[in-house]
Amino acid sequence: MAADRLVGEALEVELERLLEEGASFPPSQEFVGSALISDTAVWDRADADPVGFWEEQARELVWAKPWDTALDDSNPPFYDWFKGGEINASYNCVDRHVEAGLGDRVAFHWHGEDNSQRTITYSDLHREVQLAANALKDLGVKPGEVVGIYLPMIPEVVVAMLACARIGAPHNVVFGGFSAQAVAERMEVSDAKVLITASGARRKGKAAPVKEQVDAEINGRDGGLPSLEHILVVKHAGQDAPMLDGRDVWWHEQLQSADPDCPAEPFDADHPLFILYSSGSTAKPKGILHGTGGYLTGAAWTHKHVFDLKADKDVWFCSADVGWITGHTYIVYGPLANAATSIMYEGAPDYPHQGIWWELIEKYKATMFYTAPTAIRACMKWGAELPAKYDLSSLRLLGSVGEPINPKAWLWYHLVIGGGNCPIVDTWWQTETGHIMISPLPGVTNAKPGSATRPLPGIRAEVVDEAEGNEVERGRQGLLVLRGSWPGMLKTLYGDDELFIQTYFSRFGKETYLVGDAARQDADGDMWVIGRIDDVVNVSGHRLSTAEVESAIVGHPAVAEAAVIGQSDEQSGQAICAFVTLESSHATSDEIMAEINQVVADRIGKFARPKRIIWSDDLPKTRSGKIMRRLLRDIAEGRALGDVTTLRDPAVMAELEKQVAAQASEEG
Ligand code: WT7
Repeated sequence: MAADRLVGEALEVELERLLEEGASFPPSQEFVGSALISDTAVWDRADADPVGFWEEQARELVWAKPWDTALDDSNPPFYDWFKGGEINASYNCVDRHVEAGLGDRVAFHWHGEDNSQRTITYSDLHREVQLAANALKDLGVKPGEVVGIYLPMIPEVVVAMLACARIGAPHNVVFGGFSAQAVAERMEVSDAKVLITASGARRKGKAAPVKEQVDAEINGRDGGLPSLEHILVVKHAGQDAPMLDGRDVWWHEQLQSADPDCPAEPFDADHPLFILYSSGSTAKPKGILHGTGGYLTGAAWTHKHVFDLKADKDVWFCSADVGWITGHTYIVYGPLANAATSIMYEGAPDYPHQGIWWELIEKYKATMFYTAPTAIRACMKWGAELPAKYDLSSLRLLGSVGEPINPKAWLWYHLVIGGGNCPIVDTWWQTETGHIMISPLPGVTNAKPGSATRPLPGIRAEVVDEAEGNEVERGRQGLLVLRGSWPGMLKTLYGDDELFIQTYFSRFGKETYLVGDAARQDADGDMWVIGRIDDVVNVSGHRLSTAEVESAIVGHPAVAEAAVIGQSDEQSGQAICAFVTLESSHATSDEIMAEINQVVADRIGKFARPKRIIWSDDLPKTRSGKIMRRLLRDIAEGRALGDVTTLRDPAVMAELEKQVAAQASEEG
């Protein structure tokens, strides 16, 4: 039977009380008593010698050759961690645990959305990863050559990533929610030689073809994809797939004929482990490139200490998709480097029912759960009665990631899921940082709902002013920056060192990484991250650029112009709102609206579709023709308009306001 948890009226009253009180939450004595880190000495140690601190953490991994120089910082922002060292990430995530006698430990309790189950031990991984690595070698993949991965949340995605790591082929994983067109583009710009995909995917009880759509996209392009030599296809969801002779091979056949022995080769510490495309301020996603030794050091240390992992007892559940950085670092590399046992769920949080996560926590006795605020808000909407039906008493720690968590969602998570006695770690980081940067340490920090609290040991984060980049007084808002480097820092943007420097280091110099978030530090020194300062929108923890969505929308032949903004949204944090001007030959209609949504789904993915499209005859522009998004945000959120005097034609705003009001009343 489930422990008594607050629901209904009693929960509302308690939430209101705690919100009003503005309480902070120290860890319980019990938690502190068994925590890996239970005092602040670790910060002093790292402050005194940050490089030495990270060296100590790197020694927890197995190196084929020790490094000569812990950090070469002679050419910022190109920092070289553990220079001269050689390491294999797949060896560290798999082989060494098997060698240590942990072969029978479960790496993944995999749960399918159709309720099928697979238990994957470290020995299983060891066998499968070697086969897959040899399968890739048999397809001609050499160290340094890129392998694309576009797979659903199935164990093969982990095997594929580790197989790439084993042979030094950087993987380029594309989230399953992206469209086939987005996949083809990412394969093209990363010069991928092989793509690993699935015949089909399960989507809330239905099977959808995947390979077929990828094919249509690739074959429909002029000259196809010149660098792509093979497509390796995992049979899934009972779907067959068209196979092109000589190019396409089935995963199961290729693995069956592969040599079972594939020793892990050592690679330089800075050998590229993966590329992950992520949205920036422009329409073109950036290929964020991560190295091996530094990244793995940061992933392993943070996974162990931010979540206070006891790998022999804990059961870890991260609800992210492997296609995002959270999945890379906290489903694959961090947990596996630490020999952890994880739950991996194939489906959506509301399928087959809205209590599936809680069912899985009860079934596999998860001790930790890591998810995004948007998911917590969805669960709030579904009601506290649902989780109350399950026994969640195995949980001892909760985590949040991806966007600022509003205090009410934090408190709900704490009371309803954590039963009031699990520390919550609100972890701030980015695709670029590779691993968590700002977060409570659960056995030490007084958590405050809504604050990610302090930079981790060995990390220097500051809030600075826009003009000079000097640290601002506490309590003042400014730009969040990271000084110097840290082990998991991106190496560069794939194939574009110049863009790397320009994007992150042109503002305050080459030793200060510009994050792109605004933040404030309170009187206690705790960080409150406010949100993006650039044209990046965070929809349900998914990062999108307004320019990317605009460029998709103007791809519709009837569209003359489009401006996209992120509008605050109670559910998803931010939502996409598009102002669209049609060519004069076209009248606005529901059909065109549906087509615009479809264009965005085809070009990027369904998750990028605008929540709201506002027809506009004209857009507010400065005299030089720049669209004033600030005013569009004011209008969309129904705020009083800011300064309009710099507009070329101030009458545009009055027209737009009328249009918004008319459309709103139509939509009821
Ligand atoms: C952006 C990075 C970190 C992995 C998933 C997202 C926002 C992330 C938090 C947090 C407030 C957060 C920031 C950041 N963000 N975590 N705990 N509190 N904001 O990675 O797609 O690279 O996005 O997500 O705005 O810059 P990403």
